[in-house]
Amino acid sequence: MDSSKLKNLLFKELINKEPFKLAQKLSFEHLDEAFKRRVFPSDVAIENLAHFDEDLAEAPASSLDILQQLHQYGSPATLPLVAGRYFGFVNGSYLPAAMAAKTMASFWDQNTALHVISPICSKLEEVVEKWLKDLFKLPEQTAAGFVSGSSVAIYCALAAGRMHLYEKLGWDVNADGLYDAPKIRIIAGKQIHATVKKAIALLGLGLNHIEWVATDPQGRIIVDEIPQLDDHCILCLQAGDVGSGAFDDFVSACKLAKEAGAWVHIDGAFGLWARCCDHLSHLCDGMELADSWSVDGHKTLNTPYDSGIVLCKHKDALVKALQASGSYIVYGAHRDGMLYTPEMSRRSRVVELWAALKSLGKDGLDRLILDLHERTKQFEKQINKEAFDIINEVHFNQLMIACKTDAMTEKVLQLVQKKGVCWAGPSKWNGRKVIRISVCAWTTTTEDIDLSVASFNSCFEELYGNQVEQ
Ligand SMILES: Cc1ncc(COP(=O)(O)O)c(C=O)c1O
Repeated sequence: MDSSKLKNLLFKELINKEPFKLAQKLSFEHLDEAFKRRVFPSDVAIENLAHFDEDLAEAPASSLDILQQLHQYGSPATLPLVAGRYFGFVNGSYLPAAMAAKTMASFWDQNTALHVISPICSKLEEVVEKWLKDLFKLPEQTAAGFVSGSSVAIYCALAAGRMHLYEKLGWDVNADGLYDAPKIRIIAGKQIHATVKKAIALLGLGLNHIEWVATDPQGRIIVDEIPQLDDHCILCLQAGDVGSGAFDDFVSACKLAKEAGAWVHIDGAFGLWARCCDHLSHLCDGMELADSWSVDGHKTLNTPYDSGIVLCKHKDALVKALQASGSYIVYGAHRDGMLYTPEMSRRSRVVELWAALKSLGKDGLDRLILDLHERTKQFEKQINKEAFDIINEVHFNQLMIACKTDAMTEKVLQLVQKKGVCWAGPSKWNGRKVIRISVCAWTTTTEDIDLSVASFNSCFEELYGNQVEQ
């Protein structure tokens, strides 16, 4: 096909909108199915992914055929995270307004790097930054960057911390790097998330140099065991352990850090939202004393993927750590999003964040968060205690359970996953194999918990029924 013929064809598709109409129809079918189907794709659906193993053809393919292929073989191999019985990792559902706004913003196809490229996204970033400061009760000077998730948010926050400490020590880390630089000390609880470790490694701060602090049985940093801090230190705390959901004692830990001139980062990927719920906000007491925070929209808030936020009290340090310059990059009087993120070009993820917050309002947000907590408590209450030990206190929306032996835990979990009523993942806690149940979807109903608990209980019964009475 010659290039003008191809161009005409593509223009025709833009004008008649057939691919978009078909995409909408198939997306709605997928959404309807999501609430009816098994939670993990069937073996057949996984085998059918082989249909994508093809060489790239010389000839263009029709957009409609492309979408049909995606729907026929791709849709069945997705996980219905939108529905209420997926408890793996920390994966939320999506709020209707947020997904609808994201879809609309996909058509806008904005680049949020600079105000001159997208005035609307610059405005929404400004508005959402203000809302988040208000919701999390953070200092007025706090700046927000809208990134893909907590992994990147943590990286940005620690980069800002590194910049801030080095500036005070008279070292230009952007210019001179880490060669012969004074040593930055990283202090972290043994339970910090894998992505905090990744950020430390990426920033050249060295995993072998982390000064580890012991944690209590719930995974909280033991404040009395924090080593003597100084103005070379970054202290990493967490709001919501990925296993137990426990929160560090921010008041005591931040006090130590502030007295010493250390930087404090709080990884609150899902847990920071507890601050916006009256019943749970005490878990975040003292968080405003930290210097930076990372949190996701795509977890507790239930925005679609991907949506993470870095919040930093020291705007200058964040901007200096992330800023790019070039003769054609013109910063203006309005908010230029790329100042606060590692990327230059970025999609307009703030749109769905704005829509999610607006569609809930403060009351709706409070209730959504409380509901996740209550559904987790319901799971804890209903699970058969003769078959399963409860491993953690339900602080927020995470529950860990285990059978009497690791082998039993593993087998029961495998059977639960195979049945497909719900899905939870494995983990380890204090050396013991456990099952993690993470309730993050606003769509999870009391009936979803009933069905899921029944599946766990009956899987145990099927495998070890006669052992319960022993
Ligand atoms: C406590 C914590 N921190 C960081 C992350 C990483 O978040 P993301 O997957 O958005 O990068 C997670 C993910 O579950 C988490 O639970």
